[in-house]
Amino acid sequence: MNLTNRDQKHLWHPLTQHKTTQDALGIVKANGVYLFDEFGNKYIDAISSWYTCVYGHCHPHMVQKVTEQVSSLDQIVFAGFTHPPAVEMSEKLMEILPKNQQKIFFSDNGSTTVDIAIKMSLQYHFNQGKKKLKIIAFQDAFHGDTFGAMSVSGLDVYNGPFSDVVLKVDRISVPNQENIDRVVCDFKNILATNEVACFVFEPLVQGANCMKMHEAKYLDVLIALAQEQDVVCVADEVMTGFGKTGMYFASDRLKYKPDIMCLSKALTGGMVPMGLTTCTQKIYDAFYADEIAKGFFHGHTYSANPIACSAAIASIELLQSKEIQDGIQRIEKGHQEFVLKLKNHSNISEIRTLGVILAIDLKLNIDRYGKDRNEILNHFMSKGIFLRPLGNTLYIVPPYVIKEEELLMIYNTMKEFIDAL
Ligand SMILES: Cc1ncc(COP(=O)(O)O)c(C=O)c1O
Repeated sequence: MNLTNRDQKHLWHPLTQHKTTQDALGIVKANGVYLFDEFGNKYIDAISSWYTCVYGHCHPHMVQKVTEQVSSLDQIVFAGFTHPPAVEMSEKLMEILPKNQQKIFFSDNGSTTVDIAIKMSLQYHFNQGKKKLKIIAFQDAFHGDTFGAMSVSGLDVYNGPFSDVVLKVDRISVPNQENIDRVVCDFKNILATNEVACFVFEPLVQGANCMKMHEAKYLDVLIALAQEQDVVCVADEVMTGFGKTGMYFASDRLKYKPDIMCLSKALTGGMVPMGLTTCTQKIYDAFYADEIAKGFFHGHTYSANPIACSAAIASIELLQSKEIQDGIQRIEKGHQEFVLKLKNHSNISEIRTLGVILAIDLKLNIDRYGKDRNEILNHFMSKGIFLRPLGNTLYIVPPYVIKEEELLMIYNTMKEFIDAL
């Protein structure tokens, strides 16, 4: 029996309707930009395994750091203890975070970083004796699958059965040149209730919403308005963080910096899970008091796991390296040229890029996870490329170490596919 058959006996996969889905393929090895299946085929990981393995799989620097850590300190309670990887990681992260971020809170994945951000925002006001319970988020946002994160997410495909039990959230459209006046008006009306605790957003790119992009200058308008009223601005950089938009963080492109940031995915270069919610000194200070109850009583067993922290240190070191920065620039340039080449293609309704993210909306009407979409996925797999279309959107977020010829191979395969539609 191969892995596919053995898998079916006990395993339940994420985002999957098992009755209609196709078999899960067994991947037995990953190296650099390549995934290897159990039958000896290889595929370029064109989405960096959900935007985590941005330095390629099993990068020697990551492997070395993590291996060293595994044999010296594996896991320790982070309440009452601290350890070198956590401290070093905090120092390293401070080198690249927007300067207003001063404190770091640990968890295990992207969703929990958002739940924590929401709880921090609510308690920030509560600790000051203010009753602020409203949360503002964008339409069609995606922030994860735990209850808080799901509440601020606006994509029905994930939330349907839970819509009556999630937190109440006021939703606004993502601002653009056409709607900015209306969005500002809607936003101001909600702010005027004086009950808003926080504004949660994916800065510049809505990942799960088919990589839809918006301009920093419009988001800046909203952040400035919110911050005038001490509404906590939460940038969910789980997807955009660590180089995806061409800078360390999408927030680097903003004039008004968020009060809280959510980080995960590429934080550990895909080696082990970890999430971080970072905040300003001002937020932290609202919890710093003689009353014990004003502390933040939230904690995950694996908080600041030393192995995960060591992976994060290695990952940030790589991100700062010339090799990786050159790689990001090479991809950005490649994407921009490809966009120019395809932008008037008759089978494309929109093509967009920011940093290493490239998304193409095809003139097709297909379900997000339906059969037609699977056929597209299979087509690219048969050509040696792993990408996961979201409905009619083809998108890639390649590892920063991808070579020019590999990138060209992806572009050519995409173009051939689009030409033939
Ligand atoms: C912007 C954003 N926030 C949060 C999450 C949730 O992260 P996780 O899947 O690690 O819980 C994701 C996942 O794709 C995401 O794109």
